[in-house]
Amino acid sequence: MEKILTQNWSLKDSHTLAVYESTGGYQSLSKLFTMKPEEVTEEVKKSGLRGRGGAGFPTGMKWSFIPKDDSKPKYLCINADESEPGTFKDRYILELNPHQLIEGAIGCAYAIGAKTVYCYIRGEFMFPYDRLQQAVDEAYAGGYLGKNIKGSGVDVDFYLHKGAGAYICGEETALLESLEGKRGYPRIKPPFPAVMGLFGCPTVINNVETIAAVPYIVNKGSAAYRQYGTEKSPGTKLFCVSGHVKKPGNYEVPLGYPLKKLIEEDCGGMRNGKALKAVIPGGSSVPVLTAAEAMEVNLDYEALAAKGTMLGSGGVIVMDESVCMVKSLLNLAHFYAHESCGQCSPCREGTGWSYKILKRFHDGEGSVKDLDLLLEIADNMAGKTVCVLSDALAMPIVSHINKFRAEFEEHVKLGKCPLE
Ligand SMILES: Cc1cc2nc3c(=O)[nH]c(=O)nc-3n(C[C@H](O)[C@H](O)[C@H](O)COP(=O)(O)O)c2cc1C
Ligand code: SF4
Repeated sequence: MEKILTQNWSLKDSHTLAVYESTGGYQSLSKLFTMKPEEVTEEVKKSGLRGRGGAGFPTGMKWSFIPKDDSKPKYLCINADESEPGTFKDRYILELNPHQLIEGAIGCAYAIGAKTVYCYIRGEFMFPYDRLQQAVDEAYAGGYLGKNIKGSGVDVDFYLHKGAGAYICGEETALLESLEGKRGYPRIKPPFPAVMGLFGCPTVINNVETIAAVPYIVNKGSAAYRQYGTEKSPGTKLFCVSGHVKKPGNYEVPLGYPLKKLIEEDCGGMRNGKALKAVIPGGSSVPVLTAAEAMEVNLDYEALAAKGTMLGSGGVIVMDESVCMVKSLLNLAHFYAHESCGQCSPCREGTGWSYKILKRFHDGEGSVKDLDLLLEIADNMAGKTVCVLSDALAMPIVSHINKFRAEFEEHVKLGKCPLE
């Protein structure tokens, strides 16, 4: 399979303009500027590219929501916040192939009529930030950014903005608030950012990996992109595999790839001869799969949805038989209770209560009734809040308890963790 996102990663100095140009980089621009902006959006629509930040929203459709008759400035905001536990792909695009992101951003900016691109980067990403800034400086010097890009008459400016360490600022409207210099509170939608986004203007927010796929689609066309993946989930995707496999790391594979093959062949199988117990397939906020489910599912939007989970950000967390599922859920509850912005009661209280109950449970002081209480709390958290951070804990609570109930009950029976 041709690599679309990682093809340069192993080359020396892959982050530099010289290496990027020598491998065909920025070639999509000569074709881009011969197309009408709406033709670019149409091509991205036809490619079937879906957002790689978590929600999987169709990218071309998102771009088409930008009003054409609005005289306000338009913006593209690239989401490089990447704080979802288990997800570590965007940082490598920034570190190893930042020019591909810039090229994709020019494509999107041209399609939606934006002259300004902001890239919102996770505050802890010092090295990726430096790499991207260096690439932006090179792109300005090389005539790929700024006024009249390569004589096309198109102007695009590109600015980097560092976050300050809050997970919630990865949620697109909290990101906009933060960019505007305010506290990162998610906004109530509608209005959606395409109509009223940054500074009240039409805005597209896309993930780093989504934008990095754009040069290939513009250059080679949607049919070439569709040769990989499935009919409904076309293209390739980066999967960040962590946990108890022999070779954790980033793997670019076509969507629809069997999870069993990813774990057993690409990642070299389980470590230390231990058996697989569970897999969280799409970053910490999606429902967990049992080993049996994981061994028969394919990595695409539809196949994972059919198993009651999601592709999310592509963070595949592999757990072997030594993992306590109560502790796994406790870790998640700790994270989400800490990261809730506190605006909505079901989320602020629900994440905190869940954490306290699970802590007590793991310490051997739980009762079977606590499990039903946790499920009731989760029911009150899901779908009732301004953003889906609340659901991001509610879903793992339900899947962990329903799929591993016997193990939770064992904690009550023994008065301690059976695995410690
Ligand atoms: C709590 C929360 C955190 C999020 N964090 C990120 C993130 O770090 N990076 C990201 O791209 N999307 C994140 N998202 C998803 C964004 O809101 C948004 O859907 C995405 O940036 C859109 O880009 P895409 O269509 O290219 O996926 C998060 C969503 C929520 C609810
Ligand atoms: S769901 Fe949670 S994180 Fe999202 S806005 Fe409400 S309180 Fe904040």
